Amino acid sequence: MWKTFAFPLLALLSATTSAYVNPIECTSGICNNAHDPALIRRDDGTYFRFSTGGSTAGAIPIFTAKAINGPWSAAGTVLPSGSNINRYNGAKKFDLWAPDVSKVGDTYYLYYSMSQAFGVNNSTIGVATSKTLETGSWTDLGESGVSSTAGKSSYNAIDGNLVFDGTDYYLSFGSFWNDLYTVKMANPPKKVASGSTSKQIAYVPTGSHSQEASYVYKYGSYYYLFFSVGQCCDYINNPAAKGAEYKIQACRASSVTGPYTDKSGTSCTSGGGTTVLESHDWVYGPGGQGVYSDPSLGPVLYYHYVDTRIGYGDGQKKIGINKLTFSSGWPVVV
Ligand SMILES: *[C@@H]1O[C@H](CO)[C@@H](O)[C@H](O)[C@H]1NC(C)=O
Ligand SMILES: *[C@@H]1O[C@H](CO)[C@@H](O)[C@H](O)[C@H]1NC(C)=O
Repeated sequence: MWKTFAFPLLALLSATTSAYVNPIECTSGICNNAHDPALIRRDDGTYFRFSTGGSTAGAIPIFTAKAINGPWSAAGTVLPSGSNINRYNGAKKFDLWAPDVSKVGDTYYLYYSMSQAFGVNNSTIGVATSKTLETGSWTDLGESGVSSTAGKSSYNAIDGNLVFDGTDYYLSFGSFWNDLYTVKMANPPKKVASGSTSKQIAYVPTGSHSQEASYVYKYGSYYYLFFSVGQCCDYINNPAAKGAEYKIQACRASSVTGPYTDKSGTSCTSGGGTTVLESHDWVYGPGGQGVYSDPSLGPVLYYHYVDTRIGYGDGQKKIGINKLTFSSGWPVVV
């Protein structure tokens, strides 16, 4: 029996363990302009996705589709007049990053980042609300109270993500420096809860501390902290060393505020992190991810990636979606 079945079984094992499953591919409509995506489905079945970026024509592009794999159409922007946050002499009011969208009661909350410059830890997280997700429906509430100033804060206040633990709202955030933090928000989550302090939930002590784009997702009895590690951007002018490009890792904890550990038991404030998705086949540098509980597919991991068959430009990055299973206790793309 062994001799008969050994070869096909080994072939099957190596086929399923050596590579990652390809994304549910977007093949029509607008698949790119997907950097740091946020994905949500409205009750009428329309999918909305949001991404980093803006111009004087508006900040944070919106794309809509009738199905999760598209075709996606451009549907305006979240803040057509830019953010009303009055920092950096207004120079960054259209340059908003890393949207995060969730529904709280009957209202959608979208958190966005504004930074003095790429790689500078003077930053703030703003919030806008809408009842419909459509362009023209958003009210900019301005600063959430999560912000950082070089020399005063230990983190860079970008890449916010809202999670509810059944009692309270928390916003996780962070990028490089001392990496990822979480802070309790007021209810409704328009501002930081008064008197709450930020707690570090993940940190890579070595190298450039490249860890960002936190996303906390509750599944079963655990909170799963997803984050991106490595070089996010600019692959054309500044190619990443092999393996140094973006990839997606996860940790888990029984409480939203941690302590988080990886699959091997390493503390995630000591460099822990279990890889969920990295470059494979024609997918390169996946990251900026989130997790969405799709009514028909169940939990899906959504992210941006370079399609190596198309090009490595930041604007060429495509939306990637994979179903996720947690059957082993850890997230696995299927
Ligand atoms: C960050 O903000 C501080 C305080 O306003 C300022 O002194 C510093 O020059 C800023 N950093 C950069 C790189 O712009
Ligand atoms: C912010 O960045 C500056 C410049 O890299 C650094 O000197 C400072 O320590 C950072 N802030 C903190 C507290 O991490």
